[in-house]
Amino acid sequence: MKNTLQFALVALATSALSFLAATPALSAEGAVQSLRGVDAQAADQAPEEKTQLGRRPGSQKVVPRTFDKQPPVIPHATENFDEITLEENQCLSCHGPAKYKEKKAPKIGVSHFRNQQTGKLMKQVSSARHNCVQCHVPQVDAQPLVENTFQSVPQGKGK
Ligand code: HEC
Ligand code: HEC
Repeated sequence: MKNTLQFALVALATSALSFLAATPALSAEGAVQSLRGVDAQAADQAPEEKTQLGRRPGSQKVVPRTFDKQPPVIPHATENFDEITLEENQCLSCHGPAKYKEKKAPKIGVSHFRNQQTGKLMKQVSSARHNCVQCHVPQVDAQPLVENTFQSVPQGKGK
């Protein structure tokens, strides 16, 4: 008798759970929505590849920064540059301390020469800053995917 009751309760709980799991998400209007659409088997579409807004380095102004310590965005195109590898870094051939004057390019920030562990300034660019494009990004004409109310904080250049 007791066992039968327990069994019935477990069965009831399980069916309640599976009902919850199977309930589809409802939108604000109450219509059924699914993130993947009706055909869950279909492969996700890659987003359209956009052309960069910038042109050749040296032909545009830098983009104003929007908050302190922001990595400045890259104002010029980078589409035709070689990929950054362990041995090569085309960005440094213009922005590095040896060449920036000759190339009329802004010199990389002082922070890029700091040793990550000790905080001491070094002669060489820190290896933690080698992969420039993990922080600095080129620009395309992309509209925000969701509305946001961010406003720039007015300030000078972060160092
Ligand atoms: C041929 C030289 C050259 C190369 C190569 C180059 N840049 Fe530049 N970069 C410039 C010049 C010149 C500017 C000044 C703005 C302009 O005229 O485009 C600049 C501007 C910038 C800025 C804006 C700085 C600021 O204060 O707002 C960033 C960030 C930057 N470059 C990053 C990069 C990265 C990352 C790479 C490698 C993917 C790279 N650049 C490759 C010449 C170069
Ligand atoms: C870990 C993130 C990070 C990486 C990697 C990085 N940067 Fe930066 N960069 C920043 C930030 C943050 C700033 C702004 C504050 C500062 O100067 O430190 C900056 C500033 C700059 C500036 C403007 C300097 C100034 O005086 O206004 C240039 C040019 C630049 N970076 C180029 C590069 C290049 C070229 C590389 C690759 C060799 C690189 N950065 C790698 C984060 C990064």
